[in-house]
Amino acid sequence: MRAVDLIARKRDGGRLSDEEIGWLIAAYLRDEVADYQVASWLMAVCWRGLDAGETTALTLALADSGRRLSFGDAGRPVVDKHSTGGVGDKTTLVLAPMLAASGVLVAKMSGRGLGHTGGTIDKLEAIPGVRTEVGAENFVATVKERGIAIAAQSPELAPGDGRLYALRDVTGTVESIPLIASSIMSKKIATGANAVVLDVKVGEGALMKDLDSARQLALTMVELGRGVGLPAVAVLSGMSEPLGNAIGNALEVREAMETLQGNGPEDLVSLCLTLGEEVLVAAGAAPSHEAARERLGATLRDGSALSRLRSLVEAMGGDVRCIDDSARLPRAPHVHDLPAARAGHVSGIDALACGQVAMRLGAGRATKSDRVDPAVGIVLRVKSGEHVAAGQALATVHSRQPVSVDSLRQLSGAFRWSDSPVRPPALVLDVIR
Ligand code: URA
Repeated sequence: MRAVDLIARKRDGGRLSDEEIGWLIAAYLRDEVADYQVASWLMAVCWRGLDAGETTALTLALADSGRRLSFGDAGRPVVDKHSTGGVGDKTTLVLAPMLAASGVLVAKMSGRGLGHTGGTIDKLEAIPGVRTEVGAENFVATVKERGIAIAAQSPELAPGDGRLYALRDVTGTVESIPLIASSIMSKKIATGANAVVLDVKVGEGALMKDLDSARQLALTMVELGRGVGLPAVAVLSGMSEPLGNAIGNALEVREAMETLQGNGPEDLVSLCLTLGEEVLVAAGAAPSHEAARERLGATLRDGSALSRLRSLVEAMGGDVRCIDDSARLPRAPHVHDLPAARAGHVSGIDALACGQVAMRLGAGRATKSDRVDPAVGIVLRVKSGEHVAAGQALATVHSRQPVSVDSLRQLSGAFRWSDSPVRPPALVLDVIR
């Protein structure tokens, strides 16, 4: 086989067989096909797409580029969740302990934040002492012992995706539904879960800006899952404004802990319940959505989900005292309220703008090698639909240096206004089973 023939065929709108796709990926990982050839093929895929069979073949080739974890006779279903990334998205920190306390095993490999979106690994590392690079064996053992493990994506799992993603990142080929779907699902397959819930974010602050493309991505992943025997359900959730109130690593850990103590923001709690009930039903661990939701809600009321977070942090070597005393989390030296310049109803809060301000404060990274500052970020003091008086605090900025006028201006510009009452935006836009 020659890479140039496969590139030309895809360029001309033809299809590749399973063997051809498997060969291309394997040969690339053996360095027998050059970066520039795979980059050309990826660009051809962006223009021409992949059909369902090709997408499955690519997904399996990436999943099989490393090892596949197995939980053997764990006796309980193993579940996983994935978010396509958003601003203020600390769902994993809340939902994973809720699921573990509901009786399933949670095995979650997570990523770091890049650009304006955050990553679970950066958030966990805001807890002093936490180690997230644990290796696959340790990860499996922790899931079996404690019912829950969250770790940085292991280089042993789907290494082909890591290599391909790095190439896509610098060749303008990230934005392709079959490439995104195969990238995400290959990692889910390699992690060895029995069911997965996919939180596909939609809106300005998300990878998918509109409902149609989000639905297309969700359908592609759910069908991929069906084809390979991994039950997957996708929830399309709004990301036109940040999720919850906190944006920034330690600030989001604090909000996650408050949520597990029963004092979480309504949107975050509601999304966790929806994602949780879907995956419990998909895994066959609850007889109905109602029963699943009831069980998940109970884990917030009786403290069992919070105990699971404590156990997780302990397993990761973190300071568990932070779980009961958030004052032990890193704190920024400068705290500044942003006052409302006018009275009115908040009709929207631009998630992208909030994410960009938080990133500039140091909560996120512009390039993969940047270090994040765990302490800094933003806490929204109002959400869409609320009426605000002039001078009332819209947000609190936590920064390492005194906050710049530019950042305050951009943050202030993130708030949209109406003179008449407005309804908060819908959070769950669709569920694809
Ligand atoms: N997240 C992934 O894991 N892969 C993509 O291609 C895009 C988002």
